[in-house]
Formats: sequence, C-alpha cells, structure tokens
Amino acid sequence: MIVHTRDADQTRDLGRLLGSLARAGDVLVLEGDLGAGKTTFTQGLGAGLGVVEPVTSPTFVVAREHRGSGVELAHIDAYRISSLAEWDDLDIDLERGVTVIEWGDRIAAALPEDHLRIRFREEGPGRVLEFTTAGPRSARLLSLLEAAA
Ligand SMILES: Nc1ncnc2c1ncn2[C@@H]1O[C@H](COP(=O)(O)OP(=O)(O)OP(=O)(O)O)[C@@H](O)[C@H]1O
Ligand SMILES: [Mg+2]
Repeated sequence: MIVHTRDADQTRDLGRLLGSLARAGDVLVLEGDLGAGKTTFTQGLGAGLGVVEPVTSPTFVVAREHRGSGVELAHIDAYRISSLAEWDDLDIDLERGVTVIEWGDRIAAALPEDHLRIRFREEGPGRVLEFTTAGPRSARLLSLLEAAA
C-alpha cells in the first residue's frame, strides 16, 4: 500500500488510525531519511493506542515505553545502535506491546521476520509512505488499515 500525506497532521492521522488497529506483538519498522516523518507518524500511533503523554524522539535514550489505554507502545530509535549486541542488551520484549523501531533497517538481522515495514520518502512538501508486509501478523494489520483508510 502507498499513501501520500500532504502535511504532518495527515501523517499523524494515519498513524493514529494504525494505532487503533494494532495489537500486542505487532512490530513496525520505520525507514527513511532524517526528517522524513517517522517520529511524527509515531506520535499519531501513540494517540491511537491511547498514550496520553507526548511521544518525542527517543534518539538519545534509544528506547521509550509508553502506557496506552490497552496496549503499551515501545518506541525505539535505532539510529545510534551500532551493533546487534547493543540491540540485544536493550532486551525489548516484542510480544508485550506494540513496538515501533525508527531506523529499523540498521538492525535488520535482529528483527522478527513478520514486521510491517513503512518506508517514508519526501516528495515536494508532502511525504510518500510505502507499507510492506512480511507475514500473517503484518498482513492482518495492513489489511485492516487498507479497509479503514
Ligand atoms: N507530510 C508530512 N509528514 C510528516 N512530517 C512532515 C510532513 N510534512 C512536513 N513534515 C515535517 O517534517 C518533520 C518530520 O520530522 P520527524 O521528526 O517526524 O522525522 P523523523 O523521520 O523521525 O526524523 P529522524 O530520523 O531525525 O528521527 C516535522 O518537522 C514535520 O512537521
Ligand atoms: Mg525520529
């Protein structure tokens, strides 16, 4: 699925919709350049999961956990993760809640095969978001999103 968003609010809205459909164990891998919109999308996703506090970039802390109304959101920024050992040390339980990994392509070898990949690209003033599935869980989530968007 490919979606064009005109501005940050549209990207947030799409994230919110996805958040309302996601369930524990879903893993989302966000790829794209600096400023492409990964954190903006995750802010919406948090809203969709019922996270009340602000969702900000975890660049310097690598991982943040937010309590949603039902499911938890683990928000990871892999930009500064330089080895798979560092990822292992974080000891993130991917089954516990919904996990979003910015720059997830940096730790591709450590990711579960079944994840929803969202590739962000700047196009003029807007963004292009390309969704790719890799197994039954991500396929479930994307088909719900396609039906609802
Ligand atoms: N259509 C759009 N979707 C998302 N963000 C947009 C859009 N148009 C403009 N923006 C702006 O682009 C910036 C995106 O920043 P954001 O922090 O979300 O990027 P990022 O991909 O997380 O970057 P980083 O790799 O540095 O973490 C924001 O300032 C946002 O307001
Ligand atoms: Mg970011």
